[in-house]
Amino acid sequence: MILKIENLNAEVDGKPILKGLSLSINAGEVHAIMGPNGAGKSTLSYVLGGRPGYEVTGGSATFDGQDLLALDPHERAAAGLFLGFQYPVEIPGVSNVQFLREALNAQRKLRGEEPLSGGDFLRLARGQADALGLSMDMLKRPVNVGFSGGEKKRNEMVQMGIIDPKLAILDETDSGLDIDALRVVSEGINRIMRKPGKSVLLITHYQRLLDYVKPDFVHVLAAGRIVKSGGPELALELEREGYAQVAA
Ligand SMILES: Nc1ncnc2c1ncn2[C@@H]1O[C@H](COP(=O)(O)OP(=O)(O)O)[C@@H](O)[C@H]1O
Ligand SMILES: [Mg+2]
Repeated sequence: MILKIENLNAEVDGKPILKGLSLSINAGEVHAIMGPNGAGKSTLSYVLGGRPGYEVTGGSATFDGQDLLALDPHERAAAGLFLGFQYPVEIPGVSNVQFLREALNAQRKLRGEEPLSGGDFLRLARGQADALGLSMDMLKRPVNVGFSGGEKKRNEMVQMGIIDPKLAILDETDSGLDIDALRVVSEGINRIMRKPGKSVLLITHYQRLLDYVKPDFVHVLAAGRIVKSGGPELALELEREGYAQVAA
């Protein structure tokens, strides 16, 4: 099992958001989480990523056999956890290639691996950028600064391809994408993550993404916990009938 969350409780600013959330993901599986606005979906990804201000007040999360909640955020990343953000951050003054090379080599160092040379890194970056339809010029620009919504999401997939994680948690990666960008990003997810031993947790509101990246399991998150789980057909049922009906 790659991720096992048991009875997780977490609060933000003293306000309980996650209230007894349990979820298990095996290696090689794609899971989707759907749920109404404000249910705690983004909070779950932040808590798993170790974002400051998101306080765990109960329960446990085990990642690849380790106590995830005991690790610092950079240790979680080095262990193979990747978070894609609903709103990717802009980092003025730091180029994409600089940022990615630092991130990758810091993770390799923590894992006891040799750093990638400049040449090897550029080859890797160029391959990923090509696959996602981003030019090397974009990779040399400051991280996400002035990028369109679609370019930010493509850029996140370039990051994911370079980092090559074990588990990717992708928060509304499909939001703000036009039809073509959605296809390119979905193909990126499948190409990078649909491999033995790798798992994906997709947070989404729409079936569209799930047409491309086919989930093995679908969960409904409402009021801070998983209230219903099923197969891919659950997403279709939700789209047809709405959260209130299905999760009642
Ligand atoms: N930094 C914060 N301070 C206070 N409340 C927050 C903060 N972040 C999230 N919340 C609250 O937590 C709840 C869950 O938010 P979120 O996890 O973003 O939901 P979702 O992603 O499912 O739409 C919401 O009620 C939201 O207002
Ligand atoms: Mg959210």
